[in-house]
Amino acid sequence: MKIAIRYYTRTGHTQKMAAVISEETGVKAELMDLPITEEVDILFLGSAVYMAGIDNKVKEFIRSLNGKVKNIINFSSAAVLPSTYSQIKGLLEKQNILLDKREFHCRGQFKALHRGRPNQKDLDKLREFVKNVIG
Ligand SMILES: Cc1cc2nc3c(=O)[nH]c(=O)nc-3n(C[C@H](O)[C@H](O)[C@H](O)COP(=O)(O)O)c2cc1C
Repeated sequence: MKIAIRYYTRTGHTQKMAAVISEETGVKAELMDLPITEEVDILFLGSAVYMAGIDNKVKEFIRSLNGKVKNIINFSSAAVLPSTYSQIKGLLEKQNILLDKREFHCRGQFKALHRGRPNQKDLDKLREFVKNVIG
């Protein structure tokens, strides 16, 4: 099974999460600057909420996907808002790509809110989630 990991981060939280997925899958986590060039069975796609939206880099990356990815698993964090799932799903639908119903989301520190998140507990939950996804 071919797995890929791509993420975007501004303050390091999504990178922390991507590193856990990398450990569990044995696949290097890469930034979204690196396009997907080969067929992939599962793509773990990591993003976060900024000003209620997602970064343009993530949008550009999604536009670059075309039929090379069989299944996408969203992972994200935010200080207050729900996950990036619905925004990512909407963008993928424009490319006729389905987003897996399973996702991972947790709180991410923003200023004084949720200090230390994602914390060890969040990352342990993520590890379990990844184990379940890859079987
Ligand atoms: C510039 C900026 C804007 C943000 N805006 C929101 C927001 O509108 N809603 C929210 O819930 N969290 C917001 N956050 C919090 C981030 O979603 C949270 O810190 C996330 O874990 C950041 O992930 P990253 O470190 O991978 O960039 C914002 C963070 C930053 C840096």
